[in-house]
Formats: sequence, structure tokens, C-alpha cells
Amino acid sequence: MAIKSFTLRGQDFQCFDAGSGDRVLLFVHGFPLDHHQWQPQLDHFVHSYRVIAPDLRGLGHSFITGDDVTVTMEQHADDLVAILDHLQVVSPVIYIGLSMGGYVAWQMVRKYPQRLAALVQAHTRIATDTPAQAVARHNLAAQTLSEQSSRAVLETMLPRLVPSSAPTAVVDAIMTMAQTASPAGLAANLRGLALRPDATTILPTIRLPVLAISGDLDAISPPQEMQDWADQIPDSRFISLPNVGHLSPLEDFQAFNQCLAEFLRDSLGR
Ligand code: MLT
Repeated sequence: MAIKSFTLRGQDFQCFDAGSGDRVLLFVHGFPLDHHQWQPQLDHFVHSYRVIAPDLRGLGHSFITGDDVTVTMEQHADDLVAILDHLQVVSPVIYIGLSMGGYVAWQMVRKYPQRLAALVQAHTRIATDTPAQAVARHNLAAQTLSEQSSRAVLETMLPRLVPSSAPTAVVDAIMTMAQTASPAGLAANLRGLALRPDATTILPTIRLPVLAISGDLDAISPPQEMQDWADQIPDSRFISLPNVGHLSPLEDFQAFNQCLAEFLRDSLGR
């Protein structure tokens, strides 16, 4: 079975784990999504790699309860290391993060660089929220809890995640993922997003091959902003895909998979 369930660090996790081999691709999703965000990549790369894609604490089927919880990016990174240990992954992984999954990657680089062989950062940012953005996230968390629904999260985020031209199947997938998480889990992650630290000082210290993938229509992590931080990493390349917003792995999975395959071939020799 590709889907595994286990309890670690006091938390129930659900995690996709399939394929085989010594090279592991670790896919880490964004907010308010879950591992299904990577379905086209899991389907494609499972034939050549072991592919692991957890639902982060509080999202997808990794449920939490409790209305006053905050899940930080550092906590997610600690969870990921516990998950890799549990799955007996000892060699460094190729980490592929999207947006919030990318915020978590900065904490992996800071705390656990020995667990990483290469880094793919899709549609992500290096800066913190502005005070106004942080307040908006806390308000959204409070509304989500009072309504006991993902409605407000979807209403706020959907127009920013994908352009209005996005295929219905992509919009439906986003809605299903957001509706799977509990309101408590959405709120806990919103609070954690608002607290995330600025990671700019990490950039010049990164000693890994890095691929940064943006989208020309990305309203959350615009291409110029991504190129600016990617340029500060010694061994990095940057690409912005045309006609996609914040979710190229779903919106144009063929282009995304091709970029990822080329990066793996060039940086890892396969
Ligand atoms: C995500 O896709 O993970 C979120 O858009 C991140 C954010 O809101 O900053």
C-alpha cells in the first residue's frame, strides 16, 4: 500500500510512500493542500525513484484537534526528519517543496542540512509576512474556527492560487484538499505561516544544487521575487513557467515534470 499511517511525536500522520531505490524524492506540499497536490509527480517519478509525500501536521489526513494550536515551519521540519527516520531513509533526499513546503525547506536547510542532497523550491518565498498579512492570517484562522469550515480559506486563497483560466479539475482538486483538513488544522497552520522567520541569511550558505521554479502568473510568489532570492544561492538555477499561477505541479504538470527530470539528470547524473 502506498499510503502509510503512523504516529510520531504525538501526531498521527498519513504519508504516500512508493517506488524503490537509493534515491528518495521527498515532496512537501503547500497550504491548504495535502500530498495529492503532487499526484502527477508521484505517478511519473515512482517508476525511477522512491517517492515520499506526507500530509503535513494539521493538513490532509494528518488531523489535529484543539483550537489554540500553532504549527510552525520548524515543527514541520522536525516532523519530516522523524518521518524519514521512521521510513528508514538514511541517505540524503532530494527535497521538493511548494510554497509552505518551501518555507519548511528553509528550516530543513538550517537544522538538518545533512539530510538533503538537492533542493527544488517551487512557488515559494524567503521573506516573512508583513504585519498586515500576519493579522489577516490570524483573522482567517479565527473565522475558520468560528464557522467550522474551510469556506473562508478557499474564498481568500483560491483566486490567488490559480488564475481564473485554470482547468476545473485543478480547482476541484484544491477544494477537495482544503475541505479534507479540519478547521483546527487549517487555523494552526495559518498561525504558523504568520510566524515564519525570514530565511534570507541562509541563502549564501546553501551548499546544495537548487532549482527554483516560478510561474509567470504567480500572485503569491512572483517570478522576480523568486529570481532575486535564487540568485543569492551559489549553485542555483531559476525558471518561470508560462501560463501558470502558484501551482504549476498541477496546472502544467508536464512542464513541471520536465524541469524536475532535467534538474535531477544534471545535478545527480541520472
Ligand atoms: C501555500 O501555497 O503554501 C501558501 O500560499 C503560502 C502562503 O500563503 O504564504
